[in-house]
Amino acid sequence: MQIKVTKDNEIDNWTEVILIYNSAIKQMQTKLEILNQEFQNVHQYNPIEHIKCRLKSSESIVKKLKKKGYESTIQNMIDHVNDIAGIRIICSFTSDIYKIADIIASQSDVEVQYVKDYIANPKPSGYRSYHMHVLIPVHLSDKIVETKVEIQIRTVAMDFWASLEHKIKYKFEGDTPDSLKQSLRDCSDMISALDAKMLSLNDEIQRIKTGNE
Ligand code: GTP
Ligand code: MG
Repeated sequence: MQIKVTKDNEIDNWTEVILIYNSAIKQMQTKLEILNQEFQNVHQYNPIEHIKCRLKSSESIVKKLKKKGYESTIQNMIDHVNDIAGIRIICSFTSDIYKIADIIASQSDVEVQYVKDYIANPKPSGYRSYHMHVLIPVHLSDKIVETKVEIQIRTVAMDFWASLEHKIKYKFEGDTPDSLKQSLRDCSDMISALDAKMLSLNDEIQRIKTGNE
């Protein structure tokens, strides 16, 4: 079901729309907490280090609509802003990212609209992360609303890189000097090598542990 909004009840609908996106975030957060708890019980480890949730601010929504050339209406925001509800999942290892992504995609009430694998194909900036755009149903008293959620899954190291790069980009207002951009790309490569090394180290530890049992 789509959310349909008419002009004369926009204020009410703004409240409703925010409630819907907030509910979608809560549901996704609960799903992930259950998964992590189950992994702890069954496999004695947590694939998820931590989860960050955020609802896009109204200012950012308006800015994005403007950038895309759309008028600031609630219907446009629902149709064209795909990251109003955002969840960031931070994992220890790259393998955990794909594990979590597969499990989320396999849940019957989650519909994956598209994914962007910036780990297999990093962005020119050096940005690495796995993005999923999903729809999850939010049950209200009189309707079910399929709601968009953007899920970003990355390792602790990738997150470290992304937050520093974001700060730098913000500081230079999109006009980052080329030398800094190159340094960031170099750091991104180092982080990728570090992630690979940590994963192989972990695999080795697991092998030794299993051998001792
Ligand atoms: P927006 O970038 O949000 O306008 O949407 P898009 O359709 O271009 O999607 P994209 O996959 O490029 O980016 C989605 C989100 O990923 C962004 O809002 C950021 O949170 C994150 N992201 C993408 N590229 C970068 C990057 O180069 N650096 C950092 N730090 N984050 C990035
Ligand atoms: Mg972008």
